[in-house]
Amino acid sequence: MDRFDGSPNLMLVTDLDCTLVDHDDPDNTHLLRFNALWEAYFRRDSLLVFSTGRSSISYSNLRRKKPLLTPDIAITSVGAEIMYSGQSVLIDDDWEALLDHKWDRDIVVEETSKFPELKPQAEKNQGRHKVSFNVERDKAMEIMEVLPERLEKRGLDTKLIYSNDFAFDVLPRGAGKGGALSYLLEKLKMEGREPLKILVCGDSGNDAELFGFSQAYGVMVGNSHDELLQWHEENVKSNPNIIHATGRCAAGIIEAIQRFDMGPSLSPRDVLGSSGFWIENHEPALEVVQFYLFYEKWRRGEVEKSDKCLQSLKSHFNPLSTFVHPSGEEQPIYGCIDEMEKLHGDMKEKQYHIWLDGVSSSQIGSDTWLAKFDKHEMSAEGNVRSCSTKVLLNYKKKREERGGAAEKVGPDQFSKKKPGAAKEQ
Ligand code: GLC
Ligand code: MG
Repeated sequence: MDRFDGSPNLMLVTDLDCTLVDHDDPDNTHLLRFNALWEAYFRRDSLLVFSTGRSSISYSNLRRKKPLLTPDIAITSVGAEIMYSGQSVLIDDDWEALLDHKWDRDIVVEETSKFPELKPQAEKNQGRHKVSFNVERDKAMEIMEVLPERLEKRGLDTKLIYSNDFAFDVLPRGAGKGGALSYLLEKLKMEGREPLKILVCGDSGNDAELFGFSQAYGVMVGNSHDELLQWHEENVKSNPNIIHATGRCAAGIIEAIQRFDMGPSLSPRDVLGSSGFWIENHEPALEVVQFYLFYEKWRRGEVEKSDKCLQSLKSHFNPLSTFVHPSGEEQPIYGCIDEMEKLHGDMKEKQYHIWLDGVSSSQIGSDTWLAKFDKHEMSAEGNVRSCSTKVLLNYKKKREERGGAAEKVGPDQFSKKKPGAAKEQ
């Protein structure tokens, strides 16, 4: 949460399964579009929050399978656990202590065992503050009529959530995705860092609580479950700041960013087509994202193999720009581009993708910026190779070329650009 001072420009809170992650798309097309958009334009001043029903173990498993970015905050177990990313992952013990109020896991297990229709989920889905079952909808509704009273009589204050026509979660009253988000917003407020905008994204029953915040914009992705759409119809239908997107999963999230004018909504993946089209604006994060997109498309043979193409790639960088390998060794970008020649098409028709994660940049000289990020490469076999990378970007030549326009090309000026500005180029 402390990557930057001040209020986050946008706090994007998204569910994972069937919201950010489309399990029906083995190519992860929209997820990769979202990743490039987030890293190029939002990472530096916005907060990415994942809010999932998965336990932390099951969340880690998903991260191994899908090209997920590292969020600033991960809310797992339907709001029962909060973790902050940083040098190392930090678990919010204060939050878990709060959830102990009127909660006793053993009593929940004992009382729920009196309903044979409740089939406990696998051990990896259970948690200190989450007891989960599989059960049919009709049965779940019947149990929801009687179970709260029984738990109350035993001194507990609980919340029951039914999702996806199978999942039945018993949680402490304060938990749930809404409870965890309230807690985080309160924390940010106390630090004087309330987000300027909030966008919540979901697809099913356990996401409903996210849509109950009057200050938040919301998107129910195109493939949302009827149970969420119905909850919306019955509870928050009149709120114009909640939309049901047409796009599936991450495409729906990008659609909402555009609809609510929350920043650029044209993913660099959509811009960099086979013609090698490039957004020229000297924002270090965007430039490194675009460089690796070009590299991916080059290796996949989706960019024409020509010297002209590589020259055009070079033209986006100053000859003084260099890659700094983890060993500390520096290599001029032009040298790397020359070496790319022999790699053209070696990943043709293969599941090969690159995504950058945690891109940050800082000005270290009058014309020099240092961009840092983790680069992940998914190979044809589904293996992921990751590498922490640094790039020194030099803008001197570009400024001179523009003669006197130096003041207009700094990253800060760029940040004020309107979404869609790239289309005009
Ligand atoms: C995820 C979790 C599961 C939970 C469900 C609904 O599928 O893995 O344990 O019951 O979300 O919250
Ligand atoms: Mg979901």
